[in-house]
Amino acid sequence: MSEVRTAHTADLDAATLELARALLEAAFTSDWTDHDWEHGLGGVHALVWDGDELIGHGSVVQRRFLHGGRALRTGYIEAVAVRADRRQRGHGAELMAALEPVVRGAYELGALAATADGARLYTARGWQQWQGRTSVLTPTGIARTEAEDGSIYVLPGAAPLDLSGELCCDWRDGDVW
Ligand SMILES: CC(C)(COP(=O)(O)OP(=O)(O)OC[C@H]1O[C@@H](n2cnc3c(N)ncnc32)[C@H](O)[C@@H]1OP(=O)(O)O)[C@@H](O)C(=O)NCCC(=O)NCCS
Repeated sequence: MSEVRTAHTADLDAATLELARALLEAAFTSDWTDHDWEHGLGGVHALVWDGDELIGHGSVVQRRFLHGGRALRTGYIEAVAVRADRRQRGHGAELMAALEPVVRGAYELGALAATADGARLYTARGWQQWQGRTSVLTPTGIARTEAEDGSIYVLPGAAPLDLSGELCCDWRDGDVW
């Protein structure tokens, strides 16, 4: 019997964070970097436990996205993975069901960059594909991120959105989306 628990990074001990990191490294294999791990810290984690085994992880962290002339307080979903031998049993949906209330309750917009595996999970839950251009606010100005066009999904909140408009994310080390 599995159980989903949520906790802020500050409330997770080192051993739990290490389990989460190992799960993510295994799920994303060679694509996983130290930056990817760091991007999922500093917000609220959802952890799927089966006894003392961690079988799923996701988190939501705060970012600022520019859209329609505003800097939207954005809940950004990061580091979503279910252990390979436990997929296709609804744990991914459970993770999202735990994170979405955080997004809806604390942010004006939800956003994420989906892998091919993840896209079906998100669209089935009402996340919408961003149709317009994507970009990033670098230290030297706005730069297009065309490679990410089509892979960004949003959960609309209080902020008015034009899905065919431009969505510009804030700057960070590693992958910006
Ligand atoms: C994406 C990922 C997190 C999904 O996790 P998951 O636990 O398999 O997700 P779910 O079980 O909730 O949903 C997956 C599918 O199983 C189906 N499913 C859910 N419960 C089921 C059950 N009891 N029996 C059969 N199928 C079931 C869902 O309907 C869904 O089907 P669909 O793909 O046809 O829409 C997982 O594939 C993963 O970790 N991938 C590698 C990392 C990754 O890409 N993460 C996403 C980053 S954006």
